[in-house]
Amino acid sequence: MTKFLVIASSKGGMGKTTTAINLGTALTVFGRDVIVVDCNFSAPNVSLYLGAPNISTTLHDVLDNDKDITDALYMHSMGLKIIPASPSLKDNKKIDHVKLSKLLKSLSGKADFVIIDSAEGMDDVAISSIKLGDEILVVATPELPSISDALRTIKLAQKYKKKVRGVILTRVYEDELELSKKQIESILETPVIALIPEDETIREAVKIKNPVTHTHPSAPSSQSYKELASELLGEKYVESVEKQDTLMDYAMKRLGLK
Ligand SMILES: Nc1ncnc2c1ncn2[C@@H]1O[C@H](COP(=O)(O)OP(=O)(O)OP(=O)(O)O)[C@@H](O)[C@H]1O
Ligand SMILES: [Mg+2]
Repeated sequence: MTKFLVIASSKGGMGKTTTAINLGTALTVFGRDVIVVDCNFSAPNVSLYLGAPNISTTLHDVLDNDKDITDALYMHSMGLKIIPASPSLKDNKKIDHVKLSKLLKSLSGKADFVIIDSAEGMDDVAISSIKLGDEILVVATPELPSISDALRTIKLAQKYKKKVRGVILTRVYEDELELSKKQIESILETPVIALIPEDETIREAVKIKNPVTHTHPSAPSSQSYKELASELLGEKYVESVEKQDTLMDYAMKRLGLK
């Protein structure tokens, strides 16, 4: 059964797209089939982050021309599939959110996970993305303004009776200027399920237009995204999944015998 995960935040620039593509790639490391859909039409960055700015068919084309959504499905590194929105200014127009919802629902059965990189704020498109989610993952940084916005997102999800799986804290320095995990959980009454550190390698990965989980699998942020995938799947994360271990090595590690 396909699970729809919505990556949400009321505030922009918190790390939604970074999380969508890296959690997506991390889930593929665990052998899952994943589609990341760019539903942030005001800042459609998925294709830019993944080095595919000139794709022939985008989600906009599908919406405008009644195409099948799979016409805009592209395979990226490590088997991650993406459905990009158009980064072109000429396509910057109001989106028919009812049609969009219908199209997204048609992805059911086509992957293990559909990850929606949603728009900031609370417009019709952001709300219809949240309504589609089986689980909502709220992205925030550990500062008060961001946590206050995260609270709005959580309340919005709750209004539509959606399960908020947890908060993903990004760009974490773990210094005294930040709110602690405990403080954040108490303000939001929601568990923090990942701490993604501030990590220079993310910038390097953006430069070479790839997910950091793919280009720098051992980087601190990559490890954290894989731990998040492991948490969501309820499966133990074994680092050697990506290394050239024999099947026997891998099986023994999974069983805790090595
Ligand atoms: N853990 C991190 N360490 C360092 N830089 C990061 C980290 N996470 C995200 N960034 C950087 O922060 C910036 C914003 O990230 P991103 O584009 O993922 O945010 P967003 O929420 O999708 O933004 P928007 O609201 O515009 O869609 C990017 O430059 C990204 O490279
Ligand atoms: Mg984004």
